[in-house]
Amino acid sequence: MAIRNVEGTRDLLPAEAEYWDCFKGTAARIFGLYGYRPIDTPMIELTELFVRGIGEATDVVSKEMFTAISGENLKRLLDGETLKSKSRISMRPEGTAGVVRAAVQHDLVPQGAPSAKLMYAGPMFRAERPQRGRQRQFNQVGVECLGADDPTIDAEAIIMLMRFFEEIGIPSSEMRLLVNSMGCDKCRPAYRQLVLDYMLQHESKFCDTCHARMEMNPLRAFDCKNEECAHLMEDAPKITDHLCEDCREHYSKVKELLKGSGVTFAEDSSLVRGLDYYTRTVFEVQVDNGKRSQSAIGGGGRYDKLAEEVGGRPMSGFGFALGYERCVLTLQELGMEFPERSGCQVFVACATDDARQAAFELSQLCRDEGVACELDHQGRSLKSQFKLADKLGAQVAVILGADEMSQGLVKLRNMDSHEERLVPTAEAVSEIKQIL
Ligand code: HAM
Repeated sequence: MAIRNVEGTRDLLPAEAEYWDCFKGTAARIFGLYGYRPIDTPMIELTELFVRGIGEATDVVSKEMFTAISGENLKRLLDGETLKSKSRISMRPEGTAGVVRAAVQHDLVPQGAPSAKLMYAGPMFRAERPQRGRQRQFNQVGVECLGADDPTIDAEAIIMLMRFFEEIGIPSSEMRLLVNSMGCDKCRPAYRQLVLDYMLQHESKFCDTCHARMEMNPLRAFDCKNEECAHLMEDAPKITDHLCEDCREHYSKVKELLKGSGVTFAEDSSLVRGLDYYTRTVFEVQVDNGKRSQSAIGGGGRYDKLAEEVGGRPMSGFGFALGYERCVLTLQELGMEFPERSGCQVFVACATDDARQAAFELSQLCRDEGVACELDHQGRSLKSQFKLADKLGAQVAVILGADEMSQGLVKLRNMDSHEERLVPTAEAVSEIKQIL
């Protein structure tokens, strides 16, 4: 059997690959209006970046990370050796940790400098069980604003993301924006203890995974898919009732700014997100879809401690990432098809085999003049060359016939009107450009 792609990965065929380029272009245009500039960090990073940055207790780090091992190191491992930390490399499961690492490493936000607004687009890798909308390699577009802790940054980025979703064709009526605050290291530890105490009161009713969560990170129980756990967690203490004064003020300001800009949102005190680095604001954008369980098309939040966790000095951060594939699924469910774009303006057809060399040269001249041009490479008859020209969407066909060529002429056919006229070969390209 022919070799197929790895499960949980997707090929972006030309029409979709073109769409992906437009998608990234739209993001760059809209995010650019808010001051975000591109950054491109490696797809592989030292494993310790994710273990420290994303949080050891998260599913992403504990079971969903792909490790990258060179052939040499694989042999060492199989021989029972342990690898040095600089040889422990992982495929990035998300973009934030890498961007923060790069910002720290290159001092992108020197003390007293304005914040750095960065955006990225590219593949992320998570060894999850693949299903519709959940892949092992998927594309994200994300932004990170580093060095500013004002709530205007949080609100601005959320508004920007909602604008982007609408711009690509997801109506606001189809989206649900959920917001919450995760508190900070002043108020969260006490809250965490309250949740743990609550869980211990009902210990026997929680699933095995939640038992493990009680030890590692009880707040993750809010994300449990087990019905009984979800039901129990409905009555657990709510973080928003236990925020410190500063966090409460920050959260109120974010909500006020969102309301003021007309963005509809719902508060969800059970929104804890799957990564450990969040402090204060967290949010998620979901779409309603009966067919799929993977409803989050984007999400993010504030992470004011992450820079220190990866070894830098204190630096606030806020960002989000959106899942390209889930956006596409949503748009397709709304009836979108990838636009088929024609890359061919002119087709150079040969009436005789003798004209092939001249066709080859003329098509090259067209391209040198910036005109997208195609010709037959398979010895087709003139009739099938016309069919091909039609299929490729050419606006003009140039026909090279023996008689005309002997007089130094070529025939131009307007593919829409079928109107034909003879022009001197030397003037063919400029005549074509006038028609286009
Ligand atoms: P995340 O919620 O893990 O956040 O991922 C962001 C988005 O990526 C999700 O909402 C979803 O659309 C998409 N996504 C995640 N996993 C998969 C998957 N296996 N298959 C397809 N799509 C997926 C982050 O990654 C954070 N780095 C966001 C962030 C940036 N927070 C602060 N700054």
